[in-house]
Order: sequence, then structure tokens, then C-alpha cells
Amino acid sequence: MLKMLIDPQGREFRYLRLSITDLCNYKCNYCLPDGYDCSSKPNRLNLSQIESIVSSFARNGIKKVRITGGEPTLHRELTDIIRLLKSIPGIEKVALTTNGHRMSAQLQSWKNAGLDAINLSCDSLDPRMFAAIVGRDALADLLQGLDKAIELGFHDIKVNTILLKQFNASQINDLIAWASNKPITLRFIELMQTLDNKEYFAANHFSSDNVVQRLLNSGWSERIRSLTAGPAREFTHPQYIGSVGVIAPYSKDFCQSCNRLRVSSQGKLHLCLFGEEGYDLRPYISNDDPSLLDNAIAEFLGYKKDSHFLHSGNSGHTSHLAMIGG
Ligand code: 5AD
Repeated sequence: MLKMLIDPQGREFRYLRLSITDLCNYKCNYCLPDGYDCSSKPNRLNLSQIESIVSSFARNGIKKVRITGGEPTLHRELTDIIRLLKSIPGIEKVALTTNGHRMSAQLQSWKNAGLDAINLSCDSLDPRMFAAIVGRDALADLLQGLDKAIELGFHDIKVNTILLKQFNASQINDLIAWASNKPITLRFIELMQTLDNKEYFAANHFSSDNVVQRLLNSGWSERIRSLTAGPAREFTHPQYIGSVGVIAPYSKDFCQSCNRLRVSSQGKLHLCLFGEEGYDLRPYISNDDPSLLDNAIAEFLGYKKDSHFLHSGNSGHTSHLAMIGG
């Protein structure tokens, strides 16, 4: 019988975020301002280990997998990984979060491999500000990739914008106007404090309440959320095809709707983005007895806490989000 992952707070988990590499080619000033540390030794999961781990999650009721990084498109076998995940019994939806770098040339092969949905990161529509935030003059490339994704008929396209007081906070209206006429969901995400970005966080955190007020004041209304929806709030407008969302990790009760688990490229299960060091899953991979891993995952879930401790400035073991893919 199909099992279900339920934690001590009664939250159900159908969604897994799988980081396939912690390597990144951008230098986002809130994440890896000095770029990726090339001296670190990658010991990432291979395809067979990914298959074992995701199959176990699928037997435990996981239905959706999002591939993250670092920057997942730097993994040479990304297309094979998409195809592999899509072939696992029980996995209904495979999504990808990417910075969109040189994406347009690869979209068709990802689609052919079975990719269902894409999340892109775009922190500004102004090329100079974009470059100042991510350390690369790559906005035109990203927008070309987005147009191609729309043209290829991807249905569930989301664009993530991190709200940054000293950078894009003055461009919120432009971003909303831009998204209104596209078949996408633009999501403003509040900056989260990590071990590495304390000062940057203090200078740049900007509340998404500001965005919500603007939306409500200009004819947008909040979509009713299903019981199993994640923590994003989404807004629509009768005149526009685009939707706009906010993700407010510092808001009250944010963690009550937590519906996701994370596995790092090192094969560790993270119960929270800002939690413990992760529970190593590799020792439980066994072709002879797959139930070892199934049981280990179910047991580790019992340690999931009610909430993160970001409100008290505690980022857990998370130096930056490239470690576990946001
Ligand atoms: N706070 C909020 N979002 C972040 N991301 C990376 N670091 C942070 C942070 N400190 C975002 C990226 C990308 C997603 C995977 O996570 O911009 O959209």
C-alpha cells in the first residue's frame, strides 16, 4: 500500500526538492557574492543513487520533484536526470529551478525528457541592476529563455524575484506590470538571512506586505489556497493573464503550510531550509532491501521541527542557499 510522509505536526509531504549540484556560475550578492568556492570537493550523488533515493520518496508518497542546485543546469547529465525522475513510478511532476543562463538552446530537450515546469530567477528588469545583483550581464539571455519557454508551451512558469531594499524595491510596480501580460506567475520572495549574509540581510530585507498592499489597492485579489498548497500566497487580476505571488518566510504561521522536503547533492535529507546539517541517506541505499531507505526517511521525518528559527536570527547550518537549493 502507498505510504504517506506525515510529520509530528500532521503536515503531509508530497513535494521533494532535489539539489543535483552546489556549483553555481552566478555571484548573487545575497548568496555567493564571491562566487562558488572551487576548492570544495564535490561528492555528489550519481544517477543510480538519485534513482534509489527518489524511488524511496515516491514509495513514501512523494509526487512532485523539483530539481535545484547551486545551478542545476551546470550538471552535464541534467537531461538524463529529468528523464530518470519522470520514469520513477509515482512521480507525476518534475520541475526545475534555474537562473536561466543559456537556457533557450536546451529547453526543447528538457521538454522532450519530460520536464513539466520551470522556475526562473530574475531580480530586476533593468540590465545594469540585474548585473549588479547577480554579478553577470545576463538579463537579455534570461528573457530570451523565458520567451522560448512560453513558446514551447510550458504551463507552469514561475519567475522568482528576491525583494531587496537597496536594489529592486523601487521597481516593484514595473515588475508587476511586466508580469501582468505574460502567462507566468511572478513571485516576490523575502530575503532570508543565512550565516554568510547577515549584514546584507540587515540592509536589504524588505517586507512583502508592501507588495500585498499594492496588489490589493490596484484590483488584484488573493487566490483561495488548497489545503495542500505550499507557503506562497498568489494574487490574480480580472484583466491580466499573469499572476503575482509573495513568499514571506518571516510571516506568522509560514511554516504551518510547509509541504516540502529537501535532499542535497551530497545525499543528505534536510527537514528545513534553515535546520540541521542533514541526515545522510547514502548508508541506507541497498538494492537488496529498499525498505531500509524507506524506513530511514520516515524515521528522520519524526525529527522535523514546527518552524524555522529565523525570527531570532538563527539560520541553522545554512551558510547560503546554494548549499541546498533554496
Ligand atoms: N533569500 C531568499 N531567496 C534566496 N535565493 C537564494 N538565496 C536567497 C536568500 N538568502 C533564491 C534565488 C532563487 C531561489 C532558488 O532561491 O534567488 O530564486
